[in-house]
Amino acid sequence: MKRRTTLAALAAAALLAAGPAIAQQPKLKVGMMLPFTGTFAALGTAIDNGFKLYVKEQGGKLGGREIEYFVVDDESDPAKATDNINKLINRDKVDVVVGTVHSGVAMAMAKVARDTNTLLIIPNAGADAITGPLCAPNIFRSSFSNWQSAYAMGVEMAKRGHKRAVSITWKYAAGDEMAAAFKEGFTKGGGQVLKELNLPFPNVEFQALLTDIAATKPDSVFAFFAGGGAVKFVRDYAAAGLNKTIPLYGAGFLTDGTLEAQGEAAQGIYTTLHYADSLNTPRDDAFRLAYVKAYKLQPDVYAVQGYDAAQMLAIGLNAVKGDLSKRAEFADALRKATIDSPRGKFTLSRAHNPVQDIYLRKVEGKQNKVAGIAIKALADPARGCKM
Ligand code: PHB
Repeated sequence: MKRRTTLAALAAAALLAAGPAIAQQPKLKVGMMLPFTGTFAALGTAIDNGFKLYVKEQGGKLGGREIEYFVVDDESDPAKATDNINKLINRDKVDVVVGTVHSGVAMAMAKVARDTNTLLIIPNAGADAITGPLCAPNIFRSSFSNWQSAYAMGVEMAKRGHKRAVSITWKYAAGDEMAAAFKEGFTKGGGQVLKELNLPFPNVEFQALLTDIAATKPDSVFAFFAGGGAVKFVRDYAAAGLNKTIPLYGAGFLTDGTLEAQGEAAQGIYTTLHYADSLNTPRDDAFRLAYVKAYKLQPDVYAVQGYDAAQMLAIGLNAVKGDLSKRAEFADALRKATIDSPRGKFTLSRAHNPVQDIYLRKVEGKQNKVAGIAIKALADPARGCKM
């Protein structure tokens, strides 16, 4: 009896001495809302892979808490977006939502996140409004705004001497915003946009539009497509022979994660993006090696954005020691942070969007090779953000 009491007393003393550190925090529930089917399926998978790679590198814990994943395939369908995020919040009771790729889906998610004060980290979707009028203390982006990479290409194409361009994209938030940002940069540099062509998302019947381009005879074309749609567009553009007469440019999504499938048709295309395949920095080399080892796949911009979404979550969680009720301190830590991304270090703007270098890249073989920096430390203007 005496011995048992002593043991119990010893155990209690040990617990006291260890303090709160030993009080096991519950698992952190992370809701991954991404496209795992449709034209953006590969993008969703790369984001998921990148996020999980970072968590694994931290021993499966962020801010001292083990991670439990809840997954929804959002199908890049805006009509299902509100229901999908509500499932994660109300049914699964997640602590944080990570998602998504498609701007229209992300807009619906941002509205729910604002209304319910759910922590949301966006690992791709560039919808300008999310870090504009919809900006909020609980919403962060690890990727880009649609304005950023397209504006940079407009400036770049004008610099390269182009005067008369046609833009072509999908008719939805991301396409509209990239076409507008391209036009802003291009006209500022003295260029003129002859036509703004589009087709409904996620259609890939490009033939009539390619015929229109051939008839309009611009001196250059700017395109935004991504994933499976980008593969088909670049191949169709070359098959129509247009790549021989009218140089094709794009926001870097046009050739990112797609080169294996685009092959010869993509060679020589210049794009602008916040990542490239030949950065040759120790940070990026280590990331790429770890990614290839884990997934037997080459990483792309989407993998980087997923990885950085996890890094951002870790920075916030570490600042509050895993206690997500301390939202103001969580946000403060991120606003002050420099994120050590494979793309290069970046900070967040007051609207919580990356302030980052936009690279000029040229397709050579299966790589988007760095051809220079189009614009250094480019910040989205955050038009309409009151925060
Ligand atoms: C978007 O809808 O915001 C979007 C989708 C795919 C990309 C880039 C942007 O590659």
